[in-house]
Amino acid sequence: MTVDDGGRAPDRDPVTAKPSILLTRRWPAGVEAHLAERYQVTLRDPDAPLTRRELKQAMRDHDALCPTVTDAINAEILNAEPRRVRFIGNFGAGHQHIDLAACKALGIQVSNTPDVLTEATANLALTLILMVTRRVSEGERLLRGGRWDGWTPTQLLGSELGGRMLGLVGFGRIGRAVAAKAVRAFGMRIGWHGRTATLGVEPNFEAHYFADLDQLLAEADIVSLHLPGGPATRHLIDSRRLGLMKSTAILINTARGSVVDEAALAEMLAAGGIAGAGLDVYEEEPTVNPRLLDLGNVTLLPHLGSATAETRTAMGMRVARNLDAFFSGFEPPDRVA
Ligand code: 8YV
Repeated sequence: MTVDDGGRAPDRDPVTAKPSILLTRRWPAGVEAHLAERYQVTLRDPDAPLTRRELKQAMRDHDALCPTVTDAINAEILNAEPRRVRFIGNFGAGHQHIDLAACKALGIQVSNTPDVLTEATANLALTLILMVTRRVSEGERLLRGGRWDGWTPTQLLGSELGGRMLGLVGFGRIGRAVAAKAVRAFGMRIGWHGRTATLGVEPNFEAHYFADLDQLLAEADIVSLHLPGGPATRHLIDSRRLGLMKSTAILINTARGSVVDEAALAEMLAAGGIAGAGLDVYEEEPTVNPRLLDLGNVTLLPHLGSATAETRTAMGMRVARNLDAFFSGFEPPDRVA
């Protein structure tokens, strides 16, 4: 699809006659090439997050900005004057790093990339569930540390998943995909808590709705978080709620670090209040609470949820689709502001 400007002169680079867009990080090469056919694309070299000053400058220099989770697009950045950016195509589903209210007030449209990362993120949640319950990280550390003396009948015994309750906090696309796979592959029982709007969408497997999050936390053997970050969910899983979980239970977080009080989690794990945790996201990425790094019963991954070549390419192409719609004068299909 080519981009037709419909006579909107300010959307065009004066030299190339293409809208000018900035990718704040490097994307899969195929997507960058695809975008370069349609837009005047500015790429980062080397691949590193932009400073606040650079982001403000970008608001002045480009027609559209394509940020990622590593860019805090707050009101200060958005209000930079003079402002040229009229569209923000976020590379990612979660958009809590963008101040949508400020965007709306300024007439800047914003889109995200839902759907395309559901499978990859669900698969990573399941990876963490298996890694923690089968003590995979502990085993690998033992072996690589030269401390494995050979097989014994009681070494590193984990636990089975069949018949255990997986408690999903958040039952949107990703939470449901995790549940469906856990039922089919491992024969788990499903409990969930989330927005009541999701109650109307019946899954094609048995899933018990808990109106009370506390009750779900108290009954689940594995608690997996699948809800957005931001102020509304900040520290939803705090010291009190962690205290409700079974001492044999584990916590999995592939959503956003802010949902869990990381210090309280480290405390609870160290005290044996819960049996383990599998984390892919952190409160202050890329910093990880040092107490977590010292604990054996925690598996820590560097925000890999959507990190497959196929998914990251699909995410980039989804941004392209939204850019194309916007610059052709149509409603971006994944508009969130
Ligand atoms: C992305 C994610 O890699 O899309 C999301 O919300 O959490 C990740 O899978 C990241 O956000 C890209 O910006």
